[in-house]
Amino acid sequence: MSLSGKTCVVTGAASGIGRATAELFVELGATVVATDIDADGLATLDNVTRVVGDVAEDEDAKAMIQAAINLSGRIDVLVANAGVIPLMTITEATGEDWDHVMNVDGKGMFLTCKYAIEAMQHTGGAIVTLSSISGVAGQPKQAIYGPAKFVASGLAKHLAVEWAHANIRVNAVAPGTIRTAVVKKLEEDAEGKRYVDGMAAMHPMRRLGEPVEVARAIAFLASDQASFITGAVLPVDGGYLAQ
Ligand SMILES: NC(=O)c1ccc[n+]([C@@H]2O[C@H](COP(=O)([O-])OP(=O)(O)OC[C@H]3O[C@@H](n4cnc5c(N)ncnc54)[C@H](O)[C@@H]3O)[C@@H](O)[C@H]2O)c1
Repeated sequence: MSLSGKTCVVTGAASGIGRATAELFVELGATVVATDIDADGLATLDNVTRVVGDVAEDEDAKAMIQAAINLSGRIDVLVANAGVIPLMTITEATGEDWDHVMNVDGKGMFLTCKYAIEAMQHTGGAIVTLSSISGVAGQPKQAIYGPAKFVASGLAKHLAVEWAHANIRVNAVAPGTIRTAVVKKLEEDAEGKRYVDGMAAMHPMRRLGEPVEVARAIAFLASDQASFITGAVLPVDGGYLAQ
């Protein structure tokens, strides 16, 4: 698999799945624009062009895509990954919580997809959105995050149909629980470890996924190897959604 010659924007690249994706894309030969609201985290990524910004702010989202155009005159790939992951029941959550999560996970993904497609419409391209098992099926404590991830699945399907004529492919990945730094931190105390072990037990493969395992699926969908795949929501979940 190669991304050589492709200019790719990865949002939320300072940590977790986005970071693993940016690192893999560099290994696969891509020119990578790594964007995040976390400037310190971004500063530790090598061999990328960094853009600090908030995906939910119109001008920032535009600047992330423009950085690719400035570098290469085009954008070939967008990985719409930036997001927040708060776990709340509907009785715990407030209207402000809803607005915050939908603003980042929903509007932020919409804006970055919008500006990427405006730039890709005459050249073609590929977009991968970060959905989740929670963007396909129900889970407890995800009264806001879950619906926000349905936005990611929905954007993949609707934009795939709307833009297939322009050779823009749009797919989503739906990861199960992934062992990012936040999850590793949870494992440090007994109660957190019990929670993480419980999550692992819910996945038929009886373990959590690693960020690079999601990054590999994203790279495949972004690459020309996936040239006839669009509108798909690909589980990367150790069998979770197959149950
Ligand atoms: N970790 C999991 O188990 C899991 C499972 C399914 C889906 N996902 C999805 O994968 C994506 C990445 O999650 P992760 O686990 O790597 O999380 P993470 O917290 O490690 O990384 C998210 C990144 O997004 C950045 N970010 C947050 N708000 C932003 C904003 N407004 N503008 C720009 N950047 C912003 C953060 O600074 C961070 O670097 C998310 O969309 C998440 O919903 C994660």
